Amino acid sequence: MNMKGKTALVLGVANQRSIAYSIAKALSSAGAELVLSYANATLAKRVEPIALELGAKLIVECDLADDAAIQKLGAKIREHYDCLDYVVHSVAYAPVEEMNKPFHHLSRQGFGIALDISVYTLIAVLKEVESLLKPGSSVLTLSYYGAQKVVPSYGVMGVAKAALEASVRYLAYSLGERGVRVNAISAGPLRTLSTASISGISEMQKQIEKSAPLRRNINHEEVAKSALYLLSDYSSGVSGEVVFVDAGMNIMAY
Ligand SMILES: NC(=O)c1ccc[n+]([C@@H]2O[C@H](COP(=O)([O-])OP(=O)(O)OC[C@H]3O[C@@H](n4cnc5c(N)ncnc54)[C@H](O)[C@@H]3O)[C@@H](O)[C@H]2O)c1
Repeated sequence: MNMKGKTALVLGVANQRSIAYSIAKALSSAGAELVLSYANATLAKRVEPIALELGAKLIVECDLADDAAIQKLGAKIREHYDCLDYVVHSVAYAPVEEMNKPFHHLSRQGFGIALDISVYTLIAVLKEVESLLKPGSSVLTLSYYGAQKVVPSYGVMGVAKAALEASVRYLAYSLGERGVRVNAISAGPLRTLSTASISGISEMQKQIEKSAPLRRNINHEEVAKSALYLLSDYSSGVSGEVVFVDAGMNIMAY
């Protein structure tokens, strides 16, 4: 795929296991220019070498919980670019103690944080970079099957992903008028920093090996390849969709 001359904003690289890293690497290999944004100063020592490796032209620290930080991110990008061809939102968070309690014990605060970081940040960023989105620009976020069916260890993140998938449809409609597409990938379980706080990943992966149509788990590169399809012109007629990259597991009843 040739993405020379295209610019991609990638949010959510924490380390080399991040799904955002795999997507950024695939974008860079296809020739796209990268703007990387990461959450906080602690991550800088991991993300700076990645930015170097991938030849990212701009790297910006931005806590997406903070509207002022999002405005600064937008201003920095506008200093260097007048168009964003691709936006990748690979960001989620819920306080770990909220994941490990019965769902009906969820706190108001925990619910709010999970929805704010895992869903609203996508809307907030798109609002901020709206003037940089042009006809043909494409936006991608990451979801999980816990949005649609109960995955007991996923708890509040399942509700957040359901809201994210609904937001993808509403964003696809509101940005579609100007030719901007918005889609999500619902990825099968992968070992990353985020999934370290979700119990039972190994058991899920073993079950997938037995039951999924492909009888195996997916890998990071497969998510990245589908991401390139959804970001590129190859999917020019696709918007508001949630595309499963899960070895087919979602089609199975058990
Ligand atoms: N790993 C999986 O099995 C899997 C499966 C399906 C979907 N996903 C989704 O993929 C996305 C990426 O997750 P990952 O698994 O690569 O883990 P990850 O931990 O590498 O990525 C999550 C990112 O969110 C960022 N983030 C959290 N709070 C933030 C804030 N306030 N401001 C800015 N950034 C913030 C983190 O810094 C991190 O870079 C998430 O949306 C996750 O839910 C993951």
